[in-house]
Amino acid sequence: MDRIGQMERTIARLTSPGRGILAADESYPTITKRLSDHGIESTEENRRFYRSLLATTPGVEAYVSGIIFFEETLGQKTDEGVRIPEACDRQGIVPGIKVDKGLTELPGTDGEKITQGLDNLGDRLDGYLEQGALFTKWRNVYAITPSTPSRQALETNAEVLARYAAIAQSRGMVPIVEPEVLMDGDHDMARCAEVTEAAQGAVFEALRRHRVTLECMILKPNMVLPGKSQPRPSVEACAEATLKVLRRTVPAAVPSINFLSGGQTSEEATAHLNAMNRADGPRPWVLSFSYSRALQNPVQAAWQGDPANQGAAQKAFLKRARLNSLARNGQYEP
Ligand code: 13P
Repeated sequence: MDRIGQMERTIARLTSPGRGILAADESYPTITKRLSDHGIESTEENRRFYRSLLATTPGVEAYVSGIIFFEETLGQKTDEGVRIPEACDRQGIVPGIKVDKGLTELPGTDGEKITQGLDNLGDRLDGYLEQGALFTKWRNVYAITPSTPSRQALETNAEVLARYAAIAQSRGMVPIVEPEVLMDGDHDMARCAEVTEAAQGAVFEALRRHRVTLECMILKPNMVLPGKSQPRPSVEACAEATLKVLRRTVPAAVPSINFLSGGQTSEEATAHLNAMNRADGPRPWVLSFSYSRALQNPVQAAWQGDPANQGAAQKAFLKRARLNSLARNGQYEP
């Protein structure tokens, strides 16, 4: 199959009705923090057991179309000795891979960040493809302060995201493009909307410059919310503000928008997605999820690092996945 045909097939699987994506791609420091919040040690065996538990949850394929893994997981096996990406694929879930190498300071700015990992990316992707990954994820971040993001950060981050997406597509892998405006701070919702629009606007300009095929990518944005220290708006206000920005920035050619949860509670993330799928007005894209914390928090709480709790952990995952699937159809009743 040619490159475009391969990506069209992957997109069709990832965007199939009622489903969304699980991000289980935390880097070593991040998974260590997440697990330690539940008193679980981040050993290689615990990570293998846990991610295999997620990928093999019976029935979850009705709600989850793809799982983004971390590099380590692609080489690990389930208890039955099946490689995790293959176990995932057998269940009808598309395996993907986070390909960025994390954040570093962007010199010349006031502590703003840029994402690393473009060097040798094509070679790394060839290896991930061999291990079964069919789509990729790359995350850039934008912090809101009175003076940031700077124009320099907006333009440089957009350029890097677009270069990543172009390289992924050159291998026939569907890129998830993730420009995350962080929730930290005491800014209001209007400021988040303004920054999100500027970040996404610059990203789509750069994607066009690099001739990225918009039909074969997924956008993974933040929702529009005030800073963490501020009171939360109504669910409908968040949905309306987020849709307003997306309508201004995301071409209708993009098949799917899969949100990150970004520190929202599991219930908030589900309710916001649901409200967007119920809202009036044009919505030319699939609106679904690509949550990490909002899907996994309850799973880790149920698992506690004890193999005996596998059933309870899978039950918690199935529940969250099902509720987000309802929200993706606008049928969730809080
Ligand atoms: P959260 O849903 O926890 O924000 O994570 C999504 C993600 O994959 C960040 O890159």
